[in-house]
Amino acid sequence: MLIKVAEKKDIAPGGMLGVKVNGLNIVICDYGGNFYAVERKCGHAAAYLERGALNGYILTCPLHCARFDITTGEALGGPVPEAPDSKYADPLAPDLETRSLKTYPVIVEGELIKVEVS
Ligand code: FES
Repeated sequence: MLIKVAEKKDIAPGGMLGVKVNGLNIVICDYGGNFYAVERKCGHAAAYLERGALNGYILTCPLHCARFDITTGEALGGPVPEAPDSKYADPLAPDLETRSLKTYPVIVEGELIKVEVS
């Protein structure tokens, strides 16, 4: 099923937009004028990824800096261990592993960005 998730003007060049459609949380990413869609919650501890940073095709999680390729969803590295004495240490997220992200096909029709969801 093809669903409208945004308009082009909603996403700055090189930017991201988090959306919830049909019960799915998805991040739409602009990379070089092309749009990619990945699941919104980080594979490590479910941080909303649009709150992180997008540098080219690499999305970095805001919480523990896991990195993902938005074109494939592949986990590239991280999360980064926290210093044991850090006041930001999160005892609920001790596993230093993440998983790759689910991706969704994106179709642009005029100004509309649509995502194929099943
Ligand atoms: S929640 Fe994303 S790296 Fe921990």
